[in-house]
Amino acid sequence: MEEMKEMVLKKFAEVFGDSDKAKVYFAPGRVNLIGEHTDYNGGHVFPCALTIGTYGVARKRKDNRLLFYSMNFEQLGVIESSLDELVPSEKADWTNYPKGVMWAFGEKGMKVPCGMDLLLNGNIPNGSGLSSSASVEVLTGFILRDLFGFDVSNQDLALIGQYSENQFNKVNCGIMDQFAIAMGKKDNAIFLDTADLSYEYAPIVLKGAKIVIACSNKKRGLGDSKYNERREECETALVELQKEVDIKTLGDLDEAGFEKAASAIQSDVRRKRAKHAVYENRRTIRAVEALKANDVAEFGRLMNASHVSLRDDYEVTGIELDTLVEEAWKVEGVIGSRMTGAGFGGCTVSIVRDEAIDAFIEKVGAAYEKKIGYVADFYVVEVGDGPKGLV
Ligand code: GLA
Repeated sequence: MEEMKEMVLKKFAEVFGDSDKAKVYFAPGRVNLIGEHTDYNGGHVFPCALTIGTYGVARKRKDNRLLFYSMNFEQLGVIESSLDELVPSEKADWTNYPKGVMWAFGEKGMKVPCGMDLLLNGNIPNGSGLSSSASVEVLTGFILRDLFGFDVSNQDLALIGQYSENQFNKVNCGIMDQFAIAMGKKDNAIFLDTADLSYEYAPIVLKGAKIVIACSNKKRGLGDSKYNERREECETALVELQKEVDIKTLGDLDEAGFEKAASAIQSDVRRKRAKHAVYENRRTIRAVEALKANDVAEFGRLMNASHVSLRDDYEVTGIELDTLVEEAWKVEGVIGSRMTGAGFGGCTVSIVRDEAIDAFIEKVGAAYEKKIGYVADFYVVEVGDGPKGLV
């Protein structure tokens, strides 16, 4: 972190003249272990923050200008806008994320009082499904709180980040990503009930195994994926089910309750979508119980079942993610493997025994390249803390 801090300060000075009074911050990325596409269905999720994430250097300005620079998009140079034009635009590119958060603070009665120079450098692969955008959102909120003393909790930072993404950037995401990032805790995953935001931390004790992320390098953005379509399908299915049963969300049903009421859903496709949401929620609850009971093998089986459901019922995987997961299942020492995040590209998450990690990377990597025609990248990750200032 020290090295990264020096590096981003140096770059800040290069881009903005000097780094006097500039402060350095960090917000993590996240990986979801299980509980996929449940967070907008009133279900449970089980994500954790990572030690990789987004570094930011920020300094207040005396005027209203916003000068933003990302080391991940150096070809775009400094992108300029101002506090007087907090509206989304195509030419604002990635700066729509920090701008959206500034806009959202204003909407919540916390008007940003002056402009800012901001430099970002992320070591989360962009568009990988490890929430680089939510990381930028939470980071921006954290910076605003620190620079202007806004009275908001970390949970508020998550909610404001989600609000900005929904309203400003028009992606109808749930709360999982921003929550996992804002509330992250080293060596713990967060068992979150998205129906009421109650949560508990669960230690990730994998005894002789690690979390390995495989990035498909198939780019996706939530905006151009079928994410919003899946959401609508679930919302319609819920309305249909509510004619049969008294529920507020799909998360209120267990498997038996769903099977009893499922015929109320008028299309096969919507029935599959709702089934996934209901079953995945129950799997998540069971997976956390298994982990607490030190039954990592059962946790892995539930991860595998999650992938099958996302592949067959929710249909958000695609050949790239399926290849990574199905090849992973063949490797001895793999405890569980599934796609993670929205799907349609992005990453898989696997729990792999220490002694099998090299073989895993080699075998899955080779089979992937052969079938898909380009390489996958692998990361052995650690579970880290939420956002912080690097003083
Ligand atoms: C994306 C969204 C989350 C969640 C996942 C799927 O990451 O941002 O809110 O819906 O997809 O579980």
